[in-house]
Amino acid sequence: MTDSQFTPRVFSGIQPSGCLTLGNYLGAIKRFVQMQEEEYETIYCMVDLHAITAKLLDPATLRKNTRELAAGFIASGISPEKSILINQSQVPEHAQLAWIFNCIARMGWMQRMTQFKDKAGKNAEASSLGLFAYPALMAADILIYHATHVPVGDDQKQHLELTRDIATKFNQEYDVDFFPITEPVIEGAATRVMSLRDGSKKMSKSDASDASRINMTDDADTIAKKIRKAKTDPDALPSEAKGLDDRPEARNLVNIYAELAEITVDQVLADHGGAQFGAFKPALAELAVTKLAPISSEMARLMDDPAEIDRILAHGAEQAREITEPVLKKTYEIVGLVGA
Ligand code: TYM
Repeated sequence: MTDSQFTPRVFSGIQPSGCLTLGNYLGAIKRFVQMQEEEYETIYCMVDLHAITAKLLDPATLRKNTRELAAGFIASGISPEKSILINQSQVPEHAQLAWIFNCIARMGWMQRMTQFKDKAGKNAEASSLGLFAYPALMAADILIYHATHVPVGDDQKQHLELTRDIATKFNQEYDVDFFPITEPVIEGAATRVMSLRDGSKKMSKSDASDASRINMTDDADTIAKKIRKAKTDPDALPSEAKGLDDRPEARNLVNIYAELAEITVDQVLADHGGAQFGAFKPALAELAVTKLAPISSEMARLMDDPAEIDRILAHGAEQAREITEPVLKKTYEIVGLVGA
């Protein structure tokens, strides 16, 4: 089966489990904005059902995070006129298809998911069933739209392989060509932005240390301070990318610079090779503030009118359901569920 029978369609999602980070922006949202301008239909989602899998959030916080994430999408350049912007729980077909995928996916497949193992930690017995089933809901998010392309950061690669396995098994079990075999889109210098405090750990909204990440809501002074304090080694920057091998913190800052400036790592090193971090960090801080400050101030402006955000999401859900209702109906028919 090829993708050609399917409309070129992009789906991706972000959890409203905390503040948006520079990792989310560079690894995912920047690509979302680019793909919106290309030949695809684009659907972007706040995955609030996923956000309660690792731990239950205070309800008011979850609602606020969801609206703030919507504001972050829009402030970063996702236009509700060009893309469908939705909140997962407002489009019930995601969860309905997920149930069917829970019956397609095998326990062995799910047990191999490294993100489950990381998030569950030593005490898997105490983690929620939702956390274990998380990747099946993610597959449903994507496949309920027959999405052909999914832009994500590097950490989602294994989940997208599972999505392909679920689509393949469904198609084989029922002898249909119904679900597409989705292509991951993992591109650019910043597919894995690392913590500013530890170059071996991913920058994450759930890290206990706020200094480890740049939040999209941080003001200029905070951004500059966090970059100034970022962990580095004592050497100068190399003039070639090979010189970044075994220097994870240095590589991380160079990757961030490259992606923010929209140039290659080689170009960054051509300009800054030989510089000490004492000189490179202020240059990076200035670039980061220039690129991120307009987004954070636009986010704050949008957050002043939550009713407008709610209107955008209600409209997005209506548009989304024009796609998801017929796909779910057809899935039920294929499976033999009488359904609604
Ligand atoms: P989440 O909320 O953890 O992250 C959202 C997106 O940001 C990317 N990302 C990063 N990229 C580079 N460096 C980092 N440090 C970094 N941290 C996060 C993630 O790779 C992701 O693209 N499971 C997803 C949410 C999801 C989803 C989906 C994604 C649910 N359903 C369907 C795509 C399609 C997640 O946890 O994202």
